[in-house]
Amino acid sequence: MDRLRIRGGKPLQGSVPIGGAKNAALPLMAASLLTAGTVTLSNVPATLVDIKTMRDILSAHGVEFADVTGAPARNGCRTLALSAHTITNTTADYELVRRMRASVLVLGPLLARFGKARVSLPGGCAIGTRPINLHLVGLQAMGAELEIADGYVEAAAPHGLHGAVVRFPSVSVGATEHLMMAAALAQGETVLENAALEPEIIDLAKLLQAMGASVFGAGTSRIVIQGAAELHGATHRVVADRIEAGTYAVAGAITGGQLELEGVSIELLGAVIDSLRSAGVEVRAESGNVWIWGNGRPKAVDITTAPFPAFPTDMQAQMMALMTVADGSSVITETIFENRFMHVPELARMGANITVKGNTAVVRGVTALKGAPVMATDLRASVSLVIAALVANGETVVNRVYHLDRGYERLVEKLSACGADIERLAG
Ligand code: UD1
Repeated sequence: MDRLRIRGGKPLQGSVPIGGAKNAALPLMAASLLTAGTVTLSNVPATLVDIKTMRDILSAHGVEFADVTGAPARNGCRTLALSAHTITNTTADYELVRRMRASVLVLGPLLARFGKARVSLPGGCAIGTRPINLHLVGLQAMGAELEIADGYVEAAAPHGLHGAVVRFPSVSVGATEHLMMAAALAQGETVLENAALEPEIIDLAKLLQAMGASVFGAGTSRIVIQGAAELHGATHRVVADRIEAGTYAVAGAITGGQLELEGVSIELLGAVIDSLRSAGVEVRAESGNVWIWGNGRPKAVDITTAPFPAFPTDMQAQMMALMTVADGSSVITETIFENRFMHVPELARMGANITVKGNTAVVRGVTALKGAPVMATDLRASVSLVIAALVANGETVVNRVYHLDRGYERLVEKLSACGADIERLAG
């Protein structure tokens, strides 16, 4: 298993080209199932393992992929053309779905277009149980007949899906996306209330509109979709990855460096920028890019994760890494996922002072971290260890690098280009 070796202490200086958002690209790829036409997506972080998994799942249904990129863009992204002209199989197998939860997003589109689908339940994952009840209840309201058998959701809509008013009891990004896609091919109007507001939802709405669906209100808590009898192919550029950008922003800040985050607008980063500024980090938006200046020791700030536009759970671990070396104590509260503090014991191995009680962590800033061998069990936890290692004294070896391969394209290259002492060790 590959590892990363990092020697801390180098301030990051330079420019980081931010890629397209993995979390936007996954539902956009699933949306290709809604049409026999070709959906061309540019700015796709195509080499990420999660994107490859979605590609494998769609290929198993019969979707054809063409990479229409010449050389990949500077940010590593590519342009993919997806054609679901001939669907040969409406079952998504456990072997593929268990690798990534977002795989369940194929259920609604398959059901809406073909009237049936059989999709494995995703099972648990490292950051909690993560059920899909909201997805399923919504599809049922739209006329889907569902049965759970042998770990699979067997879904049928012999007369097609119809519009419905669905009020989510709690906010879910995936369920909002899932029902938007299903509604785009349902008969009549669907109203989603208490919908998620994330930028990735707006990105999906843009693609669905380009495919011929009417979608109003994406980015607000009430989304109205008029279903079309048929959708057509379209071309769309994937929105920038705000979590990748936020991760580099924290890396720049913790090392006291100066970084330009290329290709991401400051509005996408929202609450992360607010927290960084409260920590004393200087942040400026200039000509479509974001500049970060680390400004000595960060000040302690409190953080509570919540749905967009509040502080994203996917940035909690990275921000905690910054707070480990802050001046003062910071209270970090995780409200989205249970069990999302797996980075805490590993950060402690590097000298961090953190106490966890339930969904709250109290981080008492220390003046320095020390390099150590560490490992983590999910993507964002792993990258928080990389961030800590960039400022730690001595050498850190981050094990289980495959988690990082799920969500960070060219991490080592992008960090080394800004002066980090980091290398990937094989085996
Ligand atoms: C997406 C992101 C993930 C991010 C999360 C929250 C993708 C591919 N992944 O995940 O990186 O951390 O949003 O911003 O975009 N829930 C239920 N029942 C459901 C669905 C969700 O109880 O049917 C709960 C979840 O367990 C969680 C909360 O709702 O506690 C929010 O989850 P959700 O927004 O659905 O996250 P994902 O879409 O899975």
